[in-house]
Amino acid sequence: MEFQGKIIVVTGAASGIGRALAQRFAAEGAKAVVCADLNAAGAGDAAAAIGATATGYGVDVSKEDEIARLIETVERDIGPIDLFCSNAGIYSKNVGVLAGDGGGADTAWQRSWDINVMAHVWAARHLAPRMIARGGGYLLNTSSAGGLLSEIGSAPYAVTKHAAVGLAEWLAITLGDDGIKVSVLCPQLVRSAMTAGVADGNTPFDGMMEPEELAEITVRSLEREDFLILPHPQVLDYMRNK
Ligand code: NAI
Repeated sequence: MEFQGKIIVVTGAASGIGRALAQRFAAEGAKAVVCADLNAAGAGDAAAAIGATATGYGVDVSKEDEIARLIETVERDIGPIDLFCSNAGIYSKNVGVLAGDGGGADTAWQRSWDINVMAHVWAARHLAPRMIARGGGYLLNTSSAGGLLSEIGSAPYAVTKHAAVGLAEWLAITLGDDGIKVSVLCPQLVRSAMTAGVADGNTPFDGMMEPEELAEITVRSLEREDFLILPHPQVLDYMRNK
């Protein structure tokens, strides 16, 4: 895809990867970039840092009605969304399967499911019919290298990020004939609030990437319409040799 003149929504845009993606899309010539986040003030700051082409929007992607409202509002006030980046995500530290913690772990599982998986389902549910009616569109869903390898991250993170890869593949297969392109972004370790305190080398791989480097790789991959965006190719070698 080309970014010039496009209307693009990025969730999780107050911070880290989402913020860098929003900035990069604007620099590539997008007509409008909507920075959406649970942290409405942070989304506003991210938009202000971009300038007049960007708008901040407060949204809780764990709620279907809020995603529906985001899509409806953007399409009414700005115009048809060309690219929707469902990027907001959470990491639940030290949550496994065996050890309960009085209910907190199950809450973390449910929240991870809603934010890391269902938000992608709801975005597709409410946006794909509109895109199909006008001949197509693009969905970018952020998963993780942890969506290919369970070594990376806690149990709910690995499981929900694997589900996000499976969902993206299902969407690509199912909606492709209707003109909807789907890509899934699977970074490994990127400097952000989520990885604050994580030392480089904490995973089977080296190399903490800056969000701006990831944004550069992502826009180039979207231009080629790659389905799998795997910014750390060493993940594939690791998978082959496991
Ligand atoms: P981050 O923590 O810096 O940013 C995540 C953003 O999502 C925050 O601004 C947060 O307010 C927002 N958010 C959280 N819950 C939300 C909700 N319910 N509704 C709306 N917004 C919500 O994290 P980062 O690193 O930028 O992560 C972005 C995405 O990239 C996530 O999906 C994450 O799982 C994924 N990822 C990150 C990696 C990393 O190393 N940083 C590696 C692989 C994937």
